[in-house]
Amino acid sequence: MENKANADMDAYWNGEGGDKWVSFGDRLEASLKPFGVRAIAAAALQGDENVLEVGCGCGPNTIDLAKKLSGGQVRGLDISATVLEKARQDAVANKLSNISFDCVDAQTGDLGVSQYDLAFSRFGVMFFDDPVRAFKNISGALKPHGRITFACWAAPGKNPWVAEPLALVAKHVPLPPPPEPGTPGPFSLSDEARLRDLLAEAGFINTAVEIFHASMVLGDGVAEAVDFLMNMAPSGGAVNRADPDAATRAAIATDLGDMLKSCQGAKGITMDAAALIVTADKG
Ligand SMILES: C[S@@+](CC[C@H](N)C(=O)[O-])C[C@H]1O[C@@H](n2cnc3c(N)ncnc32)[C@H](O)[C@@H]1O
Repeated sequence: MENKANADMDAYWNGEGGDKWVSFGDRLEASLKPFGVRAIAAAALQGDENVLEVGCGCGPNTIDLAKKLSGGQVRGLDISATVLEKARQDAVANKLSNISFDCVDAQTGDLGVSQYDLAFSRFGVMFFDDPVRAFKNISGALKPHGRITFACWAAPGKNPWVAEPLALVAKHVPLPPPPEPGTPGPFSLSDEARLRDLLAEAGFINTAVEIFHASMVLGDGVAEAVDFLMNMAPSGGAVNRADPDAATRAAIATDLGDMLKSCQGAKGITMDAAALIVTADKG
């Protein structure tokens, strides 16, 4: 029997990953907001368009998109029931009637046929074990002249908020081996040439890729930023996986805090980050 598609990611996002994404929701949104704003601008949304959002998480972009639409609707998809519960609550609190959510695997699920003008995602398309199949499935849900716009992370080396904390963690505990190229995960689409090939194989044309740099606000102060990096992000994943004793945990937190003191600015603790903003048309 064929293994269930995306079984590992399904388990992660319906387990620890989804729980953390909800509990750190406000902090994540403060960090990731600039990337959503840039991607939504790149999508050149028209008020009456219908939008499919892939990997919508707790729905902050679903809400931002819905507020920009006059006659159009936005449907948020996610594989995680955990994050969708929060997304639904926030949509109701915002009194938005042009939003719906579905718990669906975007790679294998029935997304409908020729229904959407735009497929959109902020950091929700890097977790497919068969990205060509997933992007083909998304393309099938687009109208004949539909388009896709998404943000995905640029390489870790272009993301000091990832690379510098990880280097500090590595002084205390062994890091997990780097993932094989293309393995589902935050950086799986960071190689622009591979990304262009995948989209072309899935039938998209006119692919354009912009590298977008922004300052990520990791916390209002050092303690909050340390908590974020000890729990979320690749540094948090490495600490969690190594599961060190309390003294080692405290030593990592101290090193991170010392590093972050120099990152204090008017907006809080910020570090540089870079994403790829990708647009393409259905072929
Ligand atoms: C990094 S989070 C981004 C969430 C949201 N877009 C945001 O920016 O706040 C990635 C999201 O993609 C979802 N996801 C992962 N694999 C998926 C799949 N195969 N189909 C649909 N959603 C998926 C996860 O459950 C998670 O909510």
